[in-house]
Amino acid sequence: MNTSPSQHAITFALLLCALIVFNIGLCSSNIRCNQRDKHALLKFKKGIIDPSGVLSSWSTEQDCCQWRGVNCDNITSRVIELHLTCSTTLPSYIDKEDKSHCLTGSIYLSLLIVEVKFLNYLNLRNNDFLAIQTDYVHSQICHNLSSITSPHCVNSSSLRYLDLSLNWNLVIYSLQWLPHISSLEYLNLRGIDLHRETNWLQLVTKLPSLSVLNMRSCQLEDLSLSIQYANFTALEVLHLSANEFNSEFPKWLFNLSCSISVLDLSSCSLIGRLPKALLNLRKLEDLVLEDNNLNGNIPNWLGKFEHLQTLILGVNMFSGSIPTNLGNLSSLITLDTASNPMTGVVSEKIFAKLSKLKELDIYSYSPLIFYFDSHWVPPFQLKELGFNFVGPKFPSWLYTQKFIESLTIHESSFKAQGKFWNFVSRIPELVLGDNLIDGNLSNVLLNSTYIDLSSNGLKGCLPRLSPNVAIASLANNSLSGGMSPLLCDDKMLNRKNKLLFLDISDNHLSGELTNCWKNWKSLVAIHLGGNNLKGKIPSSLSLLSNLTTLHLHENKLYGEIPSSLQNCHSLLIFNVRNNHLSGSIPNWIPHSAKALQLRSNNFSGKIPPQICQMSSLIILDIANNSISGHIPTCLGNITSLIFNNASRYYLSFSFPSFHNRYFIYNDALELVTKGQVREYAKNLHFVALIDMSSNNLSGTIPPQMFSLTGLNTLNLSHNKLTGQIPNEIGNMKNLESLDFSTNQLSGEIPQSLSSLSFLEYLNLSYNNLKGKIPSGTQLMGFDAFSYMGNPYLCGPPLTKICFQDDKPINKLINEDGDKSEFFPWFCIGIESGFLTSFLGVLCAIFFNRKLRHAFFKFLYDMRDRFISWWSSI
Ligand SMILES: *[C@@H]1O[C@H](CO)[C@@H](O)[C@H](O)[C@H]1NC(C)=O
Ligand SMILES: *[C@@H]1O[C@H](CO)[C@@H](O)[C@H](O)[C@H]1NC(C)=O
Ligand SMILES: *[C@@H]1O[C@H](CO)[C@@H](O)[C@H](O)[C@H]1NC(C)=O
Ligand SMILES: *[C@@H]1O[C@H](CO)[C@@H](O)[C@H](O)[C@H]1NC(C)=O
Ligand SMILES: *[C@@H]1O[C@H](CO)[C@@H](O)[C@H](O)[C@H]1NC(C)=O
Ligand SMILES: *[C@@H]1O[C@H](CO)[C@@H](O)[C@H](O)[C@H]1NC(C)=O
Ligand SMILES: *[C@@H]1O[C@H](CO)[C@@H](O)[C@H](O)[C@H]1NC(C)=O
Ligand SMILES: *[C@@H]1O[C@H](CO)[C@@H](O)[C@H](O)[C@H]1NC(C)=O
Ligand SMILES: *[C@@H]1O[C@H](CO)[C@@H](O)[C@H](O)[C@H]1NC(C)=O
Ligand SMILES: *[C@@H]1O[C@H](CO)[C@@H](O)[C@H](O)[C@H]1NC(C)=O
Repeated sequence: MNTSPSQHAITFALLLCALIVFNIGLCSSNIRCNQRDKHALLKFKKGIIDPSGVLSSWSTEQDCCQWRGVNCDNITSRVIELHLTCSTTLPSYIDKEDKSHCLTGSIYLSLLIVEVKFLNYLNLRNNDFLAIQTDYVHSQICHNLSSITSPHCVNSSSLRYLDLSLNWNLVIYSLQWLPHISSLEYLNLRGIDLHRETNWLQLVTKLPSLSVLNMRSCQLEDLSLSIQYANFTALEVLHLSANEFNSEFPKWLFNLSCSISVLDLSSCSLIGRLPKALLNLRKLEDLVLEDNNLNGNIPNWLGKFEHLQTLILGVNMFSGSIPTNLGNLSSLITLDTASNPMTGVVSEKIFAKLSKLKELDIYSYSPLIFYFDSHWVPPFQLKELGFNFVGPKFPSWLYTQKFIESLTIHESSFKAQGKFWNFVSRIPELVLGDNLIDGNLSNVLLNSTYIDLSSNGLKGCLPRLSPNVAIASLANNSLSGGMSPLLCDDKMLNRKNKLLFLDISDNHLSGELTNCWKNWKSLVAIHLGGNNLKGKIPSSLSLLSNLTTLHLHENKLYGEIPSSLQNCHSLLIFNVRNNHLSGSIPNWIPHSAKALQLRSNNFSGKIPPQICQMSSLIILDIANNSISGHIPTCLGNITSLIFNNASRYYLSFSFPSFHNRYFIYNDALELVTKGQVREYAKNLHFVALIDMSSNNLSGTIPPQMFSLTGLNTLNLSHNKLTGQIPNEIGNMKNLESLDFSTNQLSGEIPQSLSSLSFLEYLNLSYNNLKGKIPSGTQLMGFDAFSYMGNPYLCGPPLTKICFQDDKPINKLINEDGDKSEFFPWFCIGIESGFLTSFLGVLCAIFFNRKLRHAFFKFLYDMRDRFISWWSSI
């Protein structure tokens, strides 16, 4: 069939037309972004400070659907999702969590969710936002619930997912706006300070679709005990852990809709017994009540939760035995009753149906008695196991467990022999500290990523370490011989070692430090104190560029400290206490160092002025050497000692272990404070100390020194210091321990000394002080020991009566109210083992428990933070 030219023309025209239409279609789909959404996002951006240019693609030229973090709907092209999380890496030093690249500034929440009308997903997790604008706080209009239609108020029926978690500096004063996000299903506010919002429960229950609620670490205090019934209708997951509720279980909890499957109330300071009404929550899969003050028995009825997969009751005050009915929980994957004062017998019967069990932690303060048939083969293959048992035989059923990744045994005694070391070398995390393990480590190859064999009865030579090992503690055993089996193995050459943390302190090691450190460049912390090591500090240590902590105390090291150590730029703690080292005080210690302990060596020469530039120094202990010359006036420039800014964090290090777990280590130093030797570990960050006692220092005490108002311990005793005690000493308001004894100080005791209200220890004995001890002050509360050996000093507490002292002293020593403030400090000192008085004992008991709790909380909180990097909730 022929076609006419006109038909051709029509076909052509149609084709052209189609092409044009198609093209326009293509073009229009290239510029997809909705202008209203775009403007709203640009306004939202204005509130944000963006130091690393995360939002640099958010420009007017680009299609907003192509902007970083923005997702549009494929059909309508409206913005529906905003993903702006920040990823941070774990700091090896906790004080310095680096969020400098994350978004900060304000979140204009109302603007965003009202104007970006179809936004259903908003995730700003782990940034560093400081404020949130919901306009409820500022605008009177928004307070009026009936005039909520204003575009300035939070109001959205699209938003389903809202994650503002881990913005640790964010404070939200009110959640009044929350009910106006009517379709919200997922709400995560973890780590935000919400302590001002006492109505939080009533407000979140107004969200009818809410299925996941996470308010971990929100500083909530009120668990709304008076509320009987909470209107959650869709709630499945509830995280309220790490809030200080100090209460019993609230009634509303038992009336939660039966769809709830995850309940996490760990570290909430809950008290009382487990209430049976919990059984209402029949669908429960995870019940997490770790680290509370719950007591009584672990009830038998827990065996009725047929869906239960996770049961965590550790770190409470539960007593009695593990109820046999738990053996009915055939879905159970995790069972944790660890660190409770439980008693009784555990037999294999309880485990007969628990074939899915992967994590079992039943370590008890008072060892449980295990009755297991020696041929028992458990129905489960565990990944994690923690327990204690009565030896001497290692339970043989353990050898059937082929996939254990973490093994914790405490307070048990057994003989490590036969296949034991082979068995444990497959286990990445080995926590066997504080047992009475009897074994010989000569020729053993340790292969776990994390190894804690500290405080046991291990003998023989140092073991070899495979390249898998990252953290190894063999401290406090009876290991002997030299360092080379561990450090200098020939097979090690060119091998890629991962070792970060090595602790072999308090053994019987001898010989030199060896020059094999070049094989271990990854090391961050080295603890070799309390051995019989001899020789010089080897220069190969300077190859450890990441070294932050070096403890070589209580050995027989001699010679000078090699200046090549200045290559260890990261050094924070340098401790060579009690050796035979000589030469001058190193003047190259990195300015960021926190503690320098050279005590009890043969150092001589002057104090180098470079010390004054160490702007992070909190501990300077150069006591008991032969240091001479004057105390440098520039000492007053050490900024870290000017303010009492005891670090918010413990002086702790975190080390990546295995499987994204972290090992948190509190550094420790032995210091002399208040006239006694004390071990400072978890409280080391509170210390601000200068100890230059027992040297040959001469001249006067420079008045600049008294501008170090953050200092709590100052010891200049046993030197040749002259001159007067300046009146400026009254500025050192945080001083708790002051020792100027055995010098040649003269003049009167300045009246201002009596204004140091935290002062607990004072020693001015054996000087040439004269005149009257300021009367009517707490200075008279110290006993005569503080003042003796000053022939011209008079007045109470000395028996010598002052010549012109006619007025009788009728004021009793003032029991000032401030005492309660330094009570904890006192306890901290006492707690470390110097129980000298009844008060001390009381204090230690009281504080110990409290501290234990606080410490656990700290760890929990840190874990909370660190887990945030990988966990999805
Ligand atoms: C939109 O398109 C992207 C890429 O073509 C696709 O991955 C996504 O699933 C689509 N989303 C919807 C809701 O259709
Ligand atoms: C609140 O709303 C009511 C009713 O619409 C109105 O009478 C009242 O003036 C409003 N108050 C404010 C402060 O806007
Ligand atoms: C939210 O805003 C819409 C208009 O954008 C309005 O129709 C609706 O009533 C508002 N919702 C509330 C709870 O005020
Ligand atoms: C639960 O909802 C009912 C009816 O909507 C209401 O009367 C009650 O006050 C609500 N309770 C709480 C605690 O919000
Ligand atoms: C809430 O739970 C308690 C205890 O289980 C029960 O006595 C009460 O009737 C329940 N209230 C409602 C409204 O369900
Ligand atoms: C639960 O365990 C107890 C004791 O082991 C047993 O008597 C009981 O029958 C079990 N219940 C179920 C439902 O298995
Ligand atoms: C050493 O550890 C690695 C990794 O954890 C493991 O694959 C290997 O089997 C272990 N070697 C021995 C001898 O157990
Ligand atoms: C440890 O074993 C080695 C050889 O395996 C042996 O020479 C040494 O004497 C043993 N040490 C002790 C303390 O038993
Ligand atoms: C030192 O630490 C940095 C940062 O953690 C790491 O990248 C580097 O590999 C470490 N150096 C050595 C020698 O392990
Ligand atoms: C100490 O600080 C003072 C004043 O701030 C300054 O003049 C002096 O140079 C500083 N000394 C040293 C050694 O840094």
